[in-house]
Amino acid sequence: MLDRDIENVMISENEIAEIVKKLGKDISEEYNDKFPIILGLLKGCVPFMADLLKQLDIHLEIAFMNVSSYHGGMESTGEVKIDMDLGAPVKDRHVLIAEDIVDSGRTIQSVVELLKYRGAKTVKVVTLMDKPDGRVIDFVPEYIGKTIPKAFVVGYGLDYQEKYRNLPYVGTLKPKIYMTEE
Ligand code: PRP
Repeated sequence: MLDRDIENVMISENEIAEIVKKLGKDISEEYNDKFPIILGLLKGCVPFMADLLKQLDIHLEIAFMNVSSYHGGMESTGEVKIDMDLGAPVKDRHVLIAEDIVDSGRTIQSVVELLKYRGAKTVKVVTLMDKPDGRVIDFVPEYIGKTIPKAFVVGYGLDYQEKYRNLPYVGTLKPKIYMTEE
């Protein structure tokens, strides 16, 4: 049923599985003896983080934060708000932030700065998708699943007005969907 609203598949289920496996291998090597906190940024991280965790063959702790930059529509407002802070202390810990997408870079930059201010030993970022054409600040994630062009994408955690997060792949919406709803 959801398939009907999708114009193009940008990252298929199979490709996502390959990407996540490769990221899992690289991250497991780097963090092998570091007992990192894998910090998911809700809500978009959920499918990616769930799949990634299963590919990490190391001891780790999981934590979540909810920060928002988009507010239901398709453009970033430039505001980043902490809706739910993480419970775990990060002082002297290695933190790896798991994101579904880095677009303007504002969300991730604010969280990285906050964690460093709180005394994390290292703060790095793994993102399934990187959209460098959307950047308004300089930010380069340490682990990138796939670099994508400047298009509005949904699925595998990413939403349009809270919908489509449960699609098992990433794709672009048919224009009629957002033209009729806005
Ligand atoms: C989305 C996405 C990233 C952020 C990327 O989250 O999950 O966290 O925007 O955009 P940026 O690089 O321009 O800051 P959103 O705030 O929409 O919350 P969500 O994960 O609940 O959808």
